[in-house]
Amino acid sequence: MRLLSTRSGRVTRGPVHHPLFARYYARISVGAESRLGMAGVRERLLAGLSGRVIEIGAGNGLNFGHYPGAVAEVVAIEPEPRLRQLALESALRAQVPVDVVPGAAEALPVKSEAFDAVVLSLVLCSVRDVPRTLGEVRRVLRPGGEVRFFEHGQGGGRAMTLTQHALDRTLWPVLNGGCHLAREPVAALREAGFRLGPHRRVMLPERGPALPTSYCALGVAWRPDEPDGR
Ligand SMILES: C[S@@+](CC[C@H](N)C(=O)[O-])C[C@H]1O[C@@H](n2cnc3c(N)ncnc32)[C@H](O)[C@@H]1O
Repeated sequence: MRLLSTRSGRVTRGPVHHPLFARYYARISVGAESRLGMAGVRERLLAGLSGRVIEIGAGNGLNFGHYPGAVAEVVAIEPEPRLRQLALESALRAQVPVDVVPGAAEALPVKSEAFDAVVLSLVLCSVRDVPRTLGEVRRVLRPGGEVRFFEHGQGGGRAMTLTQHALDRTLWPVLNGGCHLAREPVAALREAGFRLGPHRRVMLPERGPALPTSYCALGVAWRPDEPDGR
């Protein structure tokens, strides 16, 4: 990952640029739609949404075809250039208006309280700063707005958890576009002040031996109406 020095002397990380991962993800994600049942998961993730929606880390745009007609507009943020190009192509085929925009989850290039819903789909594993991302999610949602999430994270028994942590400390993030296996997305949402709604564990694949990426959570959370979390 490239490190940049700012004028103030602070060192920040460079842009999200994972060309090999982008190629690989573009290929396997399309197959996973039917093979792993991802298309059905995306349908459930987005069912019932309406109004203005922002999707963070939209990848190659596989969610776009699943947005219900009541969605007025989707702003799809994607920092990785190759995936963003594929998302642009997917946006042209979508049945709702989708605007694909470069940007990072930690500093969303949109106004505060501008969206009815935020969609997080397999992205909290990859962002560089989860609390900062969720701070941004909260900022851009209108009071009472909802977060729809489908995220993988820590799970299984002790051996699986140890494996996930070991992979996170070594090759996994390097080979998988910054992805981490042992994050805890539901706990992170709660800690960031979101009110959790119905959510459930989904195993991917549903049957067969569990993989370190299998432990997923699918659900909804709301931005509290008041700044103090009520
Ligand atoms: C595993 S892919 C998931 C793509 C898509 N959401 C999906 O459901 O298929 C992770 C995505 O997060 C994006 N990403 C990585 N770091 C990010 C960041 N800091 N801000 C926003 N998106 C990021 C990647 O470029 C990639 O598109």
